[in-house]
Amino acid sequence: MQAVELKPNVYWVGGIDWDIRNFHGYKTWRGTTYNAYLIVDEKITLIDTVKHYLCDELIERIKSLVDPKKIDYIVSNHVEMDHSGSLPKIMEMCPNATILTSPKGQKGLEKHYEQDWKFQTVKSGEQITIGKRSLQFVHIPMVHWPDSMVTFCPEEKILFPNDAFGQHIASSHRFDDEIGWSLLKEEAAKYYANIVMPYGAQVQNALKALSDLQIEMIAPSHGIVWRTYISEIIEEYQKWSTLKSDKSAVIIYDSMWGSTEKMAHSLLAGFEKAHIPVVLRNLKENDISDIITDVLTAGIVAIGSPTLNNSMLPSVGGFLTYLLGLRPKNKIGFVFGSYGWGGQAVGDIKKSLEPLSWTYPKDEAKINYRPSEADLELMTNIGYELGEILKNNDN
Ligand code: FEO
Repeated sequence: MQAVELKPNVYWVGGIDWDIRNFHGYKTWRGTTYNAYLIVDEKITLIDTVKHYLCDELIERIKSLVDPKKIDYIVSNHVEMDHSGSLPKIMEMCPNATILTSPKGQKGLEKHYEQDWKFQTVKSGEQITIGKRSLQFVHIPMVHWPDSMVTFCPEEKILFPNDAFGQHIASSHRFDDEIGWSLLKEEAAKYYANIVMPYGAQVQNALKALSDLQIEMIAPSHGIVWRTYISEIIEEYQKWSTLKSDKSAVIIYDSMWGSTEKMAHSLLAGFEKAHIPVVLRNLKENDISDIITDVLTAGIVAIGSPTLNNSMLPSVGGFLTYLLGLRPKNKIGFVFGSYGWGGQAVGDIKKSLEPLSWTYPKDEAKINYRPSEADLELMTNIGYELGEILKNNDN
C-alpha cells in the first residue's frame, strides 16, 4: 500500500474502492476512492478518513510514513460516513488526537459514533498552526451537508474541499493530468448533478469564499487530485451552479408497446433537423444517475410516458421523484405520451414538474393508441421548433 506524495511531506493516504457500483443509488460504474491526506509537520495531521471497510488500507498507508499513534490532529471536513467511517478505529490507535471540525461536524460525529472523543471546533475563516504550515478552515454549509467545510493549507497552496470537486473514479493514478480532462469532466459533472445540484446558491457562496485563495492543488475526498485542470473545473462549477445550460436537448421516456418510443424518435429527428445536439434516454436501459447528468446541462428536457393504470409508468414516476429532489431549474420542458383511453400520464407528468418552474413553449403531445405518419411528423416539427427556440434562448 503506497502513500502518494502530493508535495514534500503532504501525502495521499486514502482507500480505493474498485468494486463499488452503487453509492446510495448513484451508479458508480468506475468505482471510487475515499481520499485522506496526511501532513507530516510538527503536529502530524490527518485530513478525513475513509469508508469503514477500507480502514486497513488507510492505516497501512499511514504506517508507511509515521506511527499512527503520533497523529495530533484529525480534520473532519464532513460527517458523512464514507469519510468518517474509519474514525472509531483510527481514534483507538491515536487516543491523543484532537478532531478539528465545524460545530455541526462535532454534533454529527457525536450522534453517529457516540464516543467521548477530543474535539476542537473551528470557525469559518479560523487558522491554526501545525508547524511550518498552517490550516485555514472555511465552512461551506450544504455543499452538501450542513456540517461541510474545506481546509486550506496556504504554505502549500493546497485546498482540501472534501466532496466538492470530487468524482467517482477508482484509479491507480492520483492526478488529473494522468487521466485527462474529458473523462474527468464527465465524472465531475455526474458527481455534481447527483450530489451537489440542489445547492447551486451555496456553491456560489463557497466559490466566492474560496476566490481569494492562491490554489495550486485541489485535493478532494473522491477521485483524483486536480493540479493541472484547476481553472477548468472551477469554471465548470461556476457554470453548473449558475444553471447555465448548453444548446442541447435530452429526451427521457419509457414505452409499453412502442408508441411513446416512436414519438420520442420523431422528436429526436426534429432536434437533429434543427442541428441541436440531443440524446435519447430510455428509462428501461439507462440509470437515472446517468440521465440526471444529461439533464444538468441540457437546455431542453423532454419527458414521455404512456398511460398505465390512469397515470404514468412507474419508471417515469421514479425518475421524476429523483429529478424533483435535485431541482434542476431554467429548462425548457416538453411532455409527451401515448394512451389507450384515460390518457392521464402526460397531465400527471406536467403537474409533477410544476415546482421546477420550467417554461413550456409547446403544448404537451398526446397520441391515441398508435401514432400515424402525420402524428410522427407533428412530433418532428415540435422537435424542430423547440430546437429553434432554444437557439434564441439567452440561458
Ligand atoms: Fe463523500 Fe458527502 O460524502
